[in-house]
Amino acid sequence: MLVLGIETSCDETGVALVEDGKLVRSNVIADQRALHDRYGGIVPEVASRAHVDLLHPAVEQALALGGARLEDVDGFAVTVGPGLAGSLLVGVAAAKAYALALDRPLVGVNHLIAHVYANVLEHGSLPLPAVVFVVSGGHTSLLVMEADERFRVLGQTIDDAAGEAYDKVARVLGLGYPGGPILDELAKEGDPGAVRFPRALLGDGTDDFSLSGLKTAVLRHVRRLEQTGEELRVADVAASFQEAVVDVQVSKVLGAAKREGLDTVLLAGGVAANSRLRGRLLEAAEEAGIRVLAPSPALCTDNGAMVGCAGTFALERGERAPPDLGAEPNLGIVPGVGRRAARRPSRHRKR
Ligand code: KG4
Ligand code: ZN
Repeated sequence: MLVLGIETSCDETGVALVEDGKLVRSNVIADQRALHDRYGGIVPEVASRAHVDLLHPAVEQALALGGARLEDVDGFAVTVGPGLAGSLLVGVAAAKAYALALDRPLVGVNHLIAHVYANVLEHGSLPLPAVVFVVSGGHTSLLVMEADERFRVLGQTIDDAAGEAYDKVARVLGLGYPGGPILDELAKEGDPGAVRFPRALLGDGTDDFSLSGLKTAVLRHVRRLEQTGEELRVADVAASFQEAVVDVQVSKVLGAAKREGLDTVLLAGGVAANSRLRGRLLEAAEEAGIRVLAPSPALCTDNGAMVGCAGTFALERGERAPPDLGAEPNLGIVPGVGRRAARRPSRHRKR
């Protein structure tokens, strides 16, 4: 089955041709970065307009690179949420038009679930149940994936998402956007022990995360140096910030796997591309006899292939989008667990 996956939830226009839910025939990502760069972050209105301009050429390119014509596509999959309402709508409207014009089935895909399914593209069928760590620009969630598209939430961030923290800290340090990959590279030249930043909720017995205090600590550090005139070693700050983030992530992810008695961890989302998180988690997991699977970095960040993959599974289950399919900006990975809900700290569990 040849499925065209369309992803427009944020600032990447992604279109991919996926065969049988596992072979990526093409994966086109039209990057809008240059458009948003001068604002230091994503401007929703700019993003949705750019999707309108970029989507159809991206579809044509994905077909050309994948060696297929539009008529060869057996089904369409499109991200319905979570994400920016205007951006999502561009993808949803286009996917509906293609499916209707060609008389092919269409499914709406949950962006977070698609991130998890990027692992299928890389590793084949998923060894379930597994602990899943979704870390992206808008989400930080620790879950158990029990079966195909069935998740149980263990914990999540009570304030900033991991990617959000990377992006904000990069801005404080006067680096570009998105901050994650820039800090990741820069940190390789820095000393992770140079500045002792806080590790919020480390060892607190919950699966929750908190990053806003860390972000503020970086800001304070930079301000203090500005006032005293001391040299700001940006690479050291990047490495120290990243280490604080990764320390907590590694501890909580492995802690959850051990407590749940599960020997597989799946990483998903843009921040799963982080080289330090991957390296440290893999090392610590190996010692604990736990296997860590992650998509290749290019499939961690937003792309159409993961949508095509998750969409293929949904189509094969017989799912079909209703004619009035719309965008669901606040969709959670589990019904009712949206971004807003994530702002409430979960009750502390005793071990
Ligand atoms: O999954 P994604 O592409 O979009 C969302 O669904 O949000 O994630 C984007 C986020 C951005 O915040 C970006 O800075 C972060 O992922 N990111 C990284 C890395 N690559 C992307 N964060 C840390 N290290 C990276 N290598
Ligand atoms: Zn994403």
